[in-house]
Amino acid sequence: MRIFVPRDAGAIAVGADDVVAALEQAAEKRGLPIEIIRNGSRGLYWLEPMVEVATVKGRVAYGPVSPADVPSLFEAMASNGPHALRLGLADEIPWLKRQTRLTFARCGVIDPRSVKDYRDHGGYKGLERALTLTSDEILADVTASGLRGRGGAGFPTGIKWKTVAQASADRKYIVCNADEGDSGTFADRMIMEGDPFVVIEGMTIAGIAVGATKGYIYIRSEYPHAVAAMNAAIAAARRTGYLGEGIVGSSHNFDLEVRVGAGAYVCGEETSLLESLEGRRGIVRAKPPLPAHKGLFGRPTVINNVLSFAAIPFILDNGAKAYADFGMGRSRGTMPIQLAGNIKHGGLFEVAFGITLGELIDDVGGGTFSGRPVRAVQVGGPLGAYFPRELFDTPFDYEAFAARDGLIGHGGIVVFDDSVDMAKQARFAMEFCAVESCGKCTPCRIGSTRGVETIDKIIRGERTSENLAVVEDLCNTMKFGSLCALGGFTPYPVLSALKHFREDFGPAPATLQAAE
Ligand code: NAI
Ligand code: SF4
Repeated sequence: MRIFVPRDAGAIAVGADDVVAALEQAAEKRGLPIEIIRNGSRGLYWLEPMVEVATVKGRVAYGPVSPADVPSLFEAMASNGPHALRLGLADEIPWLKRQTRLTFARCGVIDPRSVKDYRDHGGYKGLERALTLTSDEILADVTASGLRGRGGAGFPTGIKWKTVAQASADRKYIVCNADEGDSGTFADRMIMEGDPFVVIEGMTIAGIAVGATKGYIYIRSEYPHAVAAMNAAIAAARRTGYLGEGIVGSSHNFDLEVRVGAGAYVCGEETSLLESLEGRRGIVRAKPPLPAHKGLFGRPTVINNVLSFAAIPFILDNGAKAYADFGMGRSRGTMPIQLAGNIKHGGLFEVAFGITLGELIDDVGGGTFSGRPVRAVQVGGPLGAYFPRELFDTPFDYEAFAARDGLIGHGGIVVFDDSVDMAKQARFAMEFCAVESCGKCTPCRIGSTRGVETIDKIIRGERTSENLAVVEDLCNTMKFGSLCALGGFTPYPVLSALKHFREDFGPAPATLQAAE
């Protein structure tokens, strides 16, 4: 029997390793040979650990499995008989079937340690095609796909790569930002653990396109499983000729190394990440110069998020149009959306841009885990705005969110039920900024601390027009005066909480009632 049990950190956290031990024990007891493959997660986290067994009709899934379920599960798997945890054919699970998995097509399917499995599932076709193209042709494909930076800012990837390709220098670099620090996000981690070769392939194509021979993947220290997965995949790619000198017999050289961060949120900001990679404290650099002109070690550098690189192999393999055909407006292709917080069906849902927030929360996510009404959702990490139900018709699209004073960021959605206190959430945003600020600029460093103090006063009952004015003034100063997105975007959660959930900020004094 071939049995698949995820080695994804999320599955391990809920007992996947114990399930493996129980399976091995059960097999030994029965004298039945089994092969256990540690795949990635398919992203249905409420069903983890999700165990699959290969049958002639395809892989049959069971979940969530605990070690105590294993004896009965073993019998069911061996006989392909009924079981209370049986979910049917994995590929037919409706939550998976309604997705458009372009980037995550192989995640949860393949063995993330095997180049052969990756290739058997269509991997490395994008690179093979890229090796037959000129730099200009690759750049034209990436540009025509409409791919925009998946880290949050949504800058067109083709233009960024072209800037680096056109820069003249003795050396150029490719840097992958895997410092996934936003609350409610886990897509980078999932793909690094479940399909690391797609990230390597995307970075290699970037290297060929811009003329870089060296790349770094900067992973946050909180992701030890992703670090191990990427290191193992890099070693396997080197052994099979997909990294190193003369990639698969071509004249192109490209190699990669993993670097591990030290736990600062601000190191997800690209210039601060570069400082950290160079061995210094992660403090934000002023732009210009852009990293595309003067990045790592002062050389032209492509720095993209994990998901941006992971989208590239599909585009090179299937053509720009196949990717650009999905989406709405200027948001082309798909977005791996992460549903988290108080949600019934939390997990990774890759879908074309354009799906509404309401569909994602109520329909896909099934509402709250607690069963209470949804009151607010925060989209785009700790710097994203809080949206009330009235805005659930907002389509998932960079421009549509910006038009409503929000951002989609890295695609993380955190759901809150009606027990949430939005004044405390606003305070948390300021506190988070104060704790994580790199300290380089005053609006962020001082503004966030004054913000915490002033919101505390309001929470204590001093909802005066002066205190509200101070919060709004601080927010404006941070928004327009900060050097990077940490200080610049903290006002989004604060102002959205004040705008949509003002009743949580204490009773309005008589003098304010008329004005409000
Ligand atoms: P940005 O708009 O300054 O830059 C976006 C990217 O485009 C950068 O890589 C920049 O170097 C590049 N770029 C800009 N103009 C260019 C040009 N003319 N040629 C070539 N490259 C060019 O945004 P920034 O500060 O890099 O990111 C802000 C975003 O990051 C926010 O929208 C926020 O959502 C997101 N964010 C994501 C986090 C995460 O954990 N993934 C954490 C914090 C913020
Ligand atoms: Fe540093 Fe904050 Fe200024 Fe960004 S906004 S450079 S984190 S002090």
